[in-house]
Order: sequence, then structure tokens, then C-alpha cells
Amino acid sequence: MTNDKKTLRVWDPVVRIGHWTLVIAFFTAYFTEDDFMDLHVWAGYVVTAYLLIRILWGFVGGKYARFSNFIYSPSQIIGCLKNLITRKPQHYIGHNPAGGAMVVALLLSLAATTLTGLKLYAVEDNKGPFAVSATQAQTHIQSTSLISVANAADDEDDDEKSERNGNERRIDKEGEEFWEELHEVFANLTLLLVFLHILGVAVSSYIDKEKLVKVMLTGKKDVDDTYQ
Ligand code: HEM
Ligand code: HEM
Repeated sequence: MTNDKKTLRVWDPVVRIGHWTLVIAFFTAYFTEDDFMDLHVWAGYVVTAYLLIRILWGFVGGKYARFSNFIYSPSQIIGCLKNLITRKPQHYIGHNPAGGAMVVALLLSLAATTLTGLKLYAVEDNKGPFAVSATQAQTHIQSTSLISVANAADDEDDDEKSERNGNERRIDKEGEEFWEELHEVFANLTLLLVFLHILGVAVSSYIDKEKLVKVMLTGKKDVDDTYQ
């Protein structure tokens, strides 16, 4: 059997620059909430931009960047994990089946984190793409003042009014807490996936004797006939 060795350009600049930008932006966003809100929001926008580009690239990008190249069946993913556990080397030019599944999980979890972050930003500060427009806000103010005028006209007593205002404030607060909670859950789920991702990269680099991190930096991979 021949064993043709060659060097292939596997990861294009969109994938490579995108990946390392994502790494910086993700950790910046994760560690900057609260006191550094502006930086947090900007890092979050960078992650959002990365996601939009990467999803598009999954359909129109280079051969190994396409979803069709790294989405495998559950049995292939389990087979790949078994090979890793039994330390049987396996060689793929692009992502291996388990790596591909992790990429999909990371992209979904990042999408949920950014969507809930954008919603929270709108609910908390009325900023970002989900913020209500000035006209909508004006309509809201007008309808609230109309309600107040109508209420004043009624001979409703002060206790009832303050009870209702209290309820409205509580509903607002509950909405904010709901999105904050959800945003935090997805941010932490993504962090967990990131740990597993880095562990997976380390384990498969060791067992398959491949320098996966170097390939993600240079884009080039040395392959032979054993690669599929
Ligand atoms: C992958 C990207 C992101 C990560 C890892 C992330 C992570 C976090 C974490 C861990 C918190 C603290 C939650 C808590 O303790 O309750 C938080 C809060 C928050 N995030 Fe994000 N976030 C991301 C993207 C975004 C985006 C895109 C936006 C909106 C533009 C956003 C807006 C917010 C807001 C408004 C808060 C609440 C801050 C506060 O009131 O203390 N996040 N984020
Ligand atoms: C410093 C820590 C990290 C290292 C060393 C690392 C390394 C790698 C490597 C080597 C690959 C290619 C795997 C393969 O050959 O199949 C990869 C892919 C990927 N990693 Fe990471 N990673 C790190 C952190 C992260 C973080 C923090 C995220 C997400 C928040 C992430 C998301 C991804 C994604 C989405 C891909 C797929 C790339 C694509 O196809 O466009 N990585 N990573």
C-alpha cells in the first residue's frame, strides 16, 4: 500500500481568525459582566458577529468548514468516542465525528447565550437590537398616562393604585430576573462545553498523534492515506 504524504490547507482564514477571535471575545465577555458592562456588551457583539459569519460559512465556506463535512450520525459519533477511549488512533482531515458534534453544541450554546444576552440588554437598559423603538416607547408612555388619567377620574383609593404600581414593577423585575437567570445558565453551559472541547482537543491530539492546535493556527495539516 502506498502512503502518499501531503500537506493540505484544511482551515481557511475565516475559520482560523474566527476561532481565535471567538476565544478572546468569549473569555472577555465571561469575565467582564457587572463592572465592565460596555466591554461585556462589545465582546458579546463580537461573539454574535462571529456566529453569524460562521453559520453562513458552514454553508458556503471551504470544503472542511461546511456543516456537511462534520455532521455525522450518532453511531459514528459513538464509534469515534469508543476509539478515543480504547486509544485507537483515527485520522480525519477536518473535524472528527466527536469534534464535529462538539462544534455544533458550542455554536448552539453560544447562540443561546448571545440571544438571551441581547434580550436582557433590551429588558434592562432598552438598548441593543431588541430594544423598543422611540415610537413604541412613546405609545407605551401615552397608553400608561391615559390609564393613569382614567384612574384619576375613577374614585379609586391610593392604596389600590400603589398596589397596582407595585405589581407592575414586580412583573418588570421578574422579567429581568428571568432573562438574567437564563443568560447565566447558557453562559455557564457554554463554559462547561469549552472545558470538554479543550479536553477533547488535548486527548485526540495525544491519541491520534496530531498537532490540532498548531493546525488551527497555521491552517495546514500533514496527511497520508490513513486520513479520511
Ligand atoms: C458569549 C457571550 C456572552 C457571555 C459568555 C456572557 C456572560 C454573562 C454572564 C456570566 C453574566 C452574569 C450573569 C449573572 O450573574 O446574573 C452576564 C450578564 C449580562 N450580560 Fe452577558 N454574556 C454574553 C453576551 C452578552 C451579550 C451579546 C449581551 C448584550 C448585548 C449581554 C448582556 C448582558 C447583560 C445586560 C448582563 C447583566 C449584567 C448585570 O446587570 O449585572 N451579554 N453575561
Ligand atoms: C485556548 C483554548 C482553546 C483551544 C486550544 C482550542 C482549540 C481548538 C482546535 C484545535 C480546534 C480544531 C479541532 C479539530 O481539529 O477538529 C477548535 C475548533 C473549535 N473551537 Fe476551540 N479551542 C479553544 C477554545 C475555544 C473556545 C473558548 C471556544 C468557544 C467559546 C471554542 C470553539 C471552537 C469552535 C466553534 C471550533 C470549530 C471551528 C470551526 O470549524 O470553525 N474553542 N478549537
